[in-house]
Order: sequence, then C-alpha cells, then structure tokens
Amino acid sequence: MLLCCSVLIHSSFVAEDVTQSGQNIIDISSLLPQTVCSLAKATAINGAGTRLKLIHQHGPCSPFNHSNKLTHNQILTQDQSRVNFINQHRRHSTITSTSTSTTSKIPAYTGNSFSTGNYIITINFGTPEQELTVIFDTGSDVTWIQCQPCLTSCYSQQEPLFAPAQSTTFSSVSCSDPACSQLNSPDCSNNTCVYTVTYGDKSYTNGFYSEDTLTLSPTDTLTSFFFGCGVNNSDGFGKVVGLLGLGRGPASLISQSNTKYNSFFSYCLPSTSSSTGYLTFGGEAPTNLNSTQMLTNSSMPSFYFLGLQGISVDGTQLDIPPTVFSNVGTIIDSGTVISRLPPEAYSSLRDAFRQKMSNYSEAQATNLLDTCYDLSSYDTVEIPTVSLEFEDGMALDLDASQILFLVNGPSQACLGFAGNKDASDVGIIGNTQQRKFSVVYDVPNQVIGFGQGGCD
Ligand SMILES: *[C@@H]1O[C@H](CO)[C@@H](O)[C@H](O)[C@H]1NC(C)=O
Ligand SMILES: *[C@@H]1O[C@H](CO)[C@@H](O)[C@H](O)[C@H]1NC(C)=O
Ligand SMILES: *[C@@H]1O[C@H](CO)[C@@H](O)[C@H](O)[C@H]1NC(C)=O
Ligand SMILES: *[C@@H]1O[C@H](CO)[C@@H](O)[C@H](O)[C@H]1NC(C)=O
Ligand SMILES: *[C@@H]1O[C@H](CO)[C@@H](O)[C@H](O)[C@H]1NC(C)=O
Ligand SMILES: *[C@@H]1O[C@H](CO)[C@@H](O)[C@H](O)[C@H]1NC(C)=O
Repeated sequence: MLLCCSVLIHSSFVAEDVTQSGQNIIDISSLLPQTVCSLAKATAINGAGTRLKLIHQHGPCSPFNHSNKLTHNQILTQDQSRVNFINQHRRHSTITSTSTSTTSKIPAYTGNSFSTGNYIITINFGTPEQELTVIFDTGSDVTWIQCQPCLTSCYSQQEPLFAPAQSTTFSSVSCSDPACSQLNSPDCSNNTCVYTVTYGDKSYTNGFYSEDTLTLSPTDTLTSFFFGCGVNNSDGFGKVVGLLGLGRGPASLISQSNTKYNSFFSYCLPSTSSSTGYLTFGGEAPTNLNSTQMLTNSSMPSFYFLGLQGISVDGTQLDIPPTVFSNVGTIIDSGTVISRLPPEAYSSLRDAFRQKMSNYSEAQATNLLDTCYDLSSYDTVEIPTVSLEFEDGMALDLDASQILFLVNGPSQACLGFAGNKDASDVGIIGNTQQRKFSVVYDVPNQVIGFGQGGCD
C-alpha cells in the first residue's frame, strides 16, 4: 500500500549520487519499504566475528504477527517517551550525584522507554537451546527474557516462554554473587538476586537474576551469561520476549563478553523495514571507516557519547556555536528513531533544509517532525546533503535515506531530525541516521567508526 505503482528506472541517476553542488539525487522508490522481505546476502566475511541477523520489528522480515505492527505516528510517540526518559534520568542523576560520589554510587541507568520502532535479533538461551527473539539496545545494560513459571505476570509473547527447568545449565544468582552487585538496586529473595528494570513509559520487568549459556551463533557460545529471568513483567513490550543490553555498564553483554570479543561490536541497521541488517561481536574493524572518539559522561554511564560539534548543509557549515553541542553532549543510540538536536542547532538545520527544499510542496507536520514535503508526484528528488561534524574532524555525510523519515510514504516525507524541548537535554544520534552505515564500536580504543554500504 505504501508502494508506488509504477517504478520508473532512471538510468541517468544512481540513488545517492552526489552532484557537484553536493546534493543528493535520489530515486523515491529506493526509500520505500517493499511488502516482501529481502534478505541481505548471508556472505561470510573474514574477520567479521560472530554475525547475527538484525530485523526491523515492524517490517515484513519480522517473525511477529504483522497485524500488531505500529503506525509511524505510534512509533514517533514512543520515540518521544524514550527521549523524555533519557533526559529525566539524566536530570535525576545530576541532582542526586554529589561531587564526592563515584560513578558507581550514581544510580545506574536502568532503561529507556521501550521504543518499539526497534530492531530485533534471534538468540538461544540454555541447554538444550531455546530460541528467543529480543530487541537489541545500545542504551541499556541488563539483558532479560520472560521466564516460566510466570509467578506474577507475563505479557503475551509469540514464542514459547523460556523454561529454566528444562535447561541443564541454568542457575539463579545468589545475593552475594558479585554479578548481583553490578545491578541497579538489586533485591534479595530467598537468597536469590532480584533485578528490576523500569522503562520510560512505566513498563517494567522484574524477576530473578540468572545465569545460563547464551548461544549467539552455532559456533559461538557464552557460558555463564548473566541475565534477568522476568516473572513480573508489565505490558508494553510488543511481541519480543525481552531485550539484549549492549550498553557500557558492567552488566551488559559487551562487558560480560569482554574477554571473548574484546568489547568490540558492530551493526548495520537496514535502509528500510523490508531488508535485513546485522549485529556482530568481535572480529576486526572493516577498512575505510570514518572514525571519531567515543566519549564518556559519568552522569549517563551506560551510553556511548560522541563529540558532535557542527552541521553542514550542502557543504555550508551552519552558524551554530560548538558549545551548543558540547554543553550537553551527544549520545549514539540504537533505540531512538529520530535524532535529537539542541533547539538552536535544530532550528538552524531546519531553516537551511527548508530553503534548499523550497521548490517542493510542503506536507503537514506530524508529531515531532515539523518539516515535511509531498514528494508523491516525483520519481526522483534532489535533497540537500547533511553532514554531521565532530570535534576531531570526522564528518559523517548523510544521504537522502538517512535524512528523510517517510511518515506516510512519499506524500509525507519529513526531515528526520527534531529539536530538543530544552537546551540542556542531551543530543541523540538516532537510528534513522545510522541506517545503512556499518557502525563499529571499539570500546578499548574508545573509537566509534562509520562505514558505507554496511548491510551487504
Ligand atoms: C495476530 O494478531 C491478531 C490480533 O491480535 C489475532 O487475531 C491473530 O490470530 C494473530 N495471528 C497469529 C498468526 O498469531
Ligand atoms: C523460599 O524458599 C522456601 C524453601 O525452598 C519456599 O518454601 C518459599 O516458597 C520460598 N519463598 C519465596 C518467596 O520464593
Ligand atoms: C512487580 O514489579 C513491580 C515493578 O517493580 C512492583 O511494583 C510490584 O510490586 C511487583 N509485584 C510483585 C508481586 O512482586
Ligand atoms: C555530562 O552530562 C551532563 C548532563 O547532560 C552535562 O551537564 C555535562 O556537561 C556532561 N559532561 C561531559 C564531560 O560531557
Ligand atoms: C527551484 O527551481 C528553479 C526553476 O527550476 C531553479 O532555478 C532553482 O534553482 C530551484 N531552487 C532550488 C533551491 O533548488
Ligand atoms: C568519510 O570522510 C570522507 C572525507 O571527509 C568523506 O568524503 C566521506 O563521505 C565520509 N564518509 C562518511 C560515511 O561520512
């Protein structure tokens, strides 16, 4: 239904072609998801580490019931509740932390709004393996799944509940286990460590902190992986059975598998919801990456920060003081859909973008997106390039598919950025802008790299 009926091929234009003026000429049809899933070629890549298939939860490649998928507007509303929670938490921890407190005393970050505009992967827990599909999230640490018996409540999920009793390698974590003390305010019940993660939209998961074998691929197994066995879970998690936490804290998969994968991972988010991407652990960085320093902020210890300091549109740098960005910092987050900028930076970007797009007729603003166009009568359009510039000189050049968010197909194609409500809110590089790049996280070397053509 989102598909345009006649797909005209313009042999003179290649999608993402950059002309001398720096503009993107893009074939509109390349931005549209198809109704059928097209799987990325599953080519084994030397040095790529453990590779898992990444799928958009609401696209045709998703194993979940398609009748439950969210509209773009619902996705945007959830996106805002995730961002509100990120900032609420930040204010909270800023207020409660004193100058003498160490990072470990600051309340550890628990979780975001469980935005369902998100990407999923299938992994295996236990012995024998039980296959489960979870959301992956670079913005939180604790991995959890719903478990049998659901003592209090479980939301309905499509896959069978994980059954600890059927796994010969399962054990619960005792309250004195060091792993328990890595959690944010753990409880203790019958000498079993009890975890709770609360998300921005008031959804939560609560249960027994546990240990079992996690099998990421047929050849890759993590024995003694710590995760939450949720027996008291609210609604609001869609159809996934849980979450894989890839944040920076000690409880995350990245920290737990440090000796195996050296805290090195990468992913590519597919360009549309009808294609697939990947998530890898370990391996070597691909060549031809544009890399920038990974920064840390002790008031948000689970997040990966980047030193964004400027934006260019069609090669012209916008007049934004770098302190507008550096005063609040910028995180890169797999779970936020639309990038958020400090208000002054966003209005500058929006004005420059509108000026370059003045030949196209405007479409209604929607939800958090205020700059939209009706591109339905075009086969190809010219979109200004947007480039994100970092403190150490790296530039990240975004093409049309990374700039536009199609709310209602080509008839409502919006600038996929939004301004923060408050100048003190953190900047966020969201997943719309990360699509198609291979995004490489090298934690020991404190570097994040971006490569072209990542999903193939
Ligand atoms: C999908 O969900 C709808 C509505 O919740 C339900 O009626 C239908 O039976 C489900 N289909 C499958 C295959 O689970
Ligand atoms: C604690 O353990 C005892 C003995 O195994 C059991 O009878 C009781 O139900 C347990 N309590 C809870 C809250 O799980
Ligand atoms: C379930 O978890 C919620 C959120 O942490 C908590 O308020 C509630 O008391 C829990 N219910 C039980 C029966 O433990
Ligand atoms: C960390 O975040 C806080 C709150 O957003 C901000 O005030 C502070 O400047 C940041 N520190 C660094 C080093 O980025
Ligand atoms: C708008 O279209 C006119 C006529 O085709 C052209 O001269 C002008 O350069 C275009 N403006 C922009 C901003 O692309
Ligand atoms: C990487 O940097 C080069 C040189 O600045 C630039 O031409 C290229 O477009 C950049 N790649 C990405 C993915 O931004």
